[in-house]
Amino acid sequence: MELGASSRLYVQGGESDLIRQYKMPRFRLMVPVVTMFCLTLEPVLDAQNPNWFPKRDMLTIGVYYYPEAWPESQWERDMANIKKLGMEFVHMGEFAWYFMEPQEGRYDFAWLEKNVDLAAKNGLKVVLCTPSATPPIWLERQHPEILMVDAQGRTMEHGSREQADWSSPVYRDYVAKIDTELAKRFGHDPRVWGWQIDNELSHYGRGYSYSKASTEKFRDWIREKYGTIDKLNAAWGNAFWSEMYQNFDQVEMPNPQTLVADPSPHALLDLNRWFADEAANYLKFQAGILRQYTTNQWITTNFMTLHKDVDPSRSQKTLDVFTWTHYPVHGELGEGSLGFRLGSAEEMGFMHDWMRSFNGLSGPMELQPGQVNWGAVNPWPLPGAIHMWIMRAFGAGARLVCTYRYRQPLYNSELYHKGLAETDGITPSPGGQEYAQAMADVIKLRQHFDPQAKEPKTYLDRRTAFLINYDNWWDISNHPQTTRWNTVEHWMRYYRALKSIEAPVDVITPDRNFTKYPFVVAPAYQLVDDELIHRFQNYAENGGHLILTARTGQKDPRGHLWEARWAAPIYPLIGAKIPRYDVLPAGVNGRITSDGKSYTWGAWGDILEPDAGTQVLATYADQFYAGKAAAITHKLGSGTVTYIGVDTLDGELERALLRQVYQDAGTAPANLDPNFLVDWRDGFWVATNFASKTEPIPAAPSAQILVGQREVPPGGVAVWQER
Ligand code: GAL
Repeated sequence: MELGASSRLYVQGGESDLIRQYKMPRFRLMVPVVTMFCLTLEPVLDAQNPNWFPKRDMLTIGVYYYPEAWPESQWERDMANIKKLGMEFVHMGEFAWYFMEPQEGRYDFAWLEKNVDLAAKNGLKVVLCTPSATPPIWLERQHPEILMVDAQGRTMEHGSREQADWSSPVYRDYVAKIDTELAKRFGHDPRVWGWQIDNELSHYGRGYSYSKASTEKFRDWIREKYGTIDKLNAAWGNAFWSEMYQNFDQVEMPNPQTLVADPSPHALLDLNRWFADEAANYLKFQAGILRQYTTNQWITTNFMTLHKDVDPSRSQKTLDVFTWTHYPVHGELGEGSLGFRLGSAEEMGFMHDWMRSFNGLSGPMELQPGQVNWGAVNPWPLPGAIHMWIMRAFGAGARLVCTYRYRQPLYNSELYHKGLAETDGITPSPGGQEYAQAMADVIKLRQHFDPQAKEPKTYLDRRTAFLINYDNWWDISNHPQTTRWNTVEHWMRYYRALKSIEAPVDVITPDRNFTKYPFVVAPAYQLVDDELIHRFQNYAENGGHLILTARTGQKDPRGHLWEARWAAPIYPLIGAKIPRYDVLPAGVNGRITSDGKSYTWGAWGDILEPDAGTQVLATYADQFYAGKAAAITHKLGSGTVTYIGVDTLDGELERALLRQVYQDAGTAPANLDPNFLVDWRDGFWVATNFASKTEPIPAAPSAQILVGQREVPPGGVAVWQER
């Protein structure tokens, strides 16, 4: 299972239109870092309406409330108590379709209206949701064809959520109707601040829907993509095993459950692409409806953390704000003796650095409030950890944090899930108190906000684009070649290395421009085409520092190998050949030597043959290829290209080599524990400690400490300003 995956079954782990439309330059070239690289992060301008997230508020905090599940007599009290905790907004209407439309065409928004009113009276902004994650029973009984069908052909039943099929035109009609009514009622209401579409778009652990409607949509997609069946046969490699098709109507969605032996990885890759496109299309469809009836309200959806099926970058042009759900503590051991109570620093950071990179308006819509119910074991987060996660969001530049949920449910499947209030519905839980503390801290920090604050140069010099592409993730997962490989863990080894040298990171997809960054890390970039290789080449020639890693360049975008030497198209770029790779069985580890130190690997090793002039950074120390290169670097134009072909067990080699690249490029990399994070935001330095030991902050003696102390305990925070 991928890192970042919870034991919860379902979690497996270009500039946007907005930027064009509102002419928002995200970066301005200014001070040279290395010859051509000059980069100042503009304060990212707010999208359509700057009042959505006033810059000087920095971060705002809110909570989910489900009024339909509590007696009307308690609404007023609950809303007042939410305010008393310091929350600034309340999130409602998620999952409430039955209560909004108890019978077809009979709409009831009075209860919601009342709660919007109570929220406003308490000075709370309101986020409303489209209820499409939970179709009502009358709809399912009337139109059973709207229900998803899993890979084994089983139709999903009422009694849970995400059981509907977004590809069903009938379902979309009903969603359109409820969304229209909701938006007509609240779309011009200034008390409503924004909208969330659906919830955690996915079919959770059930994967894809294989219904008739999905199959039709999939066929439309391949028809559009290939035009002729011959082209599809060629792309999917159907000459193998007589898998040939004669027309598109014969093609089923590739389904490992109904195929005797291995499916074509090329067909699977297209299935992944189609499903992600279909999810994005569904979001666009709902956003389009809302936009017809809303004024000055933003639109988001809450993606799942590192969920492989749904790709947020496909919705860059659809959404105004980028949010996700994040539950760091759910029984995984993590690192150090307290890791299971602190959560993963890198997983949290990665999501922030990715979601923020779209347009600067981002934040976790569900950040854990305490113990959850769905892990294999559900321990209590370390006292202070919840506050730390919120302050990590602050440091990472988030504009909002919201938590699921205000009241702990007293019944049904999530009754063990903590809320901000205890089961009596009144007493703030430990998590509630930490949310209140975080809000108080943010309010204090707002008083020190300096609109002129400029990102420090040392920090700016290390700014890094972390290039990912779901195609690579899917292709490697469909055809890993070794069960020891884990793409997300591989990404995280590099992400951790970057955090330990205190590099600010933007996680971006290849449709975006990376030439503005002094460093680009593109890990396990398995599928490449000429255009990307040229972009990489130009980037390095013009002074950029490119870091590529194991498995890169093996295949074309269809997932076919090259009719050439292994990974041949990247040879000139990396200044070496890759005559072979090796993978080792579980229990067998290989050794690497670099700079007199020894490291261990097992998942993947590209064996490199450097060209003249290419410097070897690490070599294999055993196996029959002992002495061959495992990592290399060379100058290309005025920049450099480094290729780290081995995936080590603990990422320490990767960390050492990255440090060296940043140092050789003339920056001054820090040397922090990767679980002790230091971020800069709007003039504030923010340290959050996910490590199991106390860490000192790297602040000057003259620094003004605004939150916490100079020594940060596990789960602790410090915020300071340098003077
Ligand atoms: C989230 C989901 C919420 C709730 C929560 C429990 O993933 O979006 O609706 O189920 O998990 O932790």
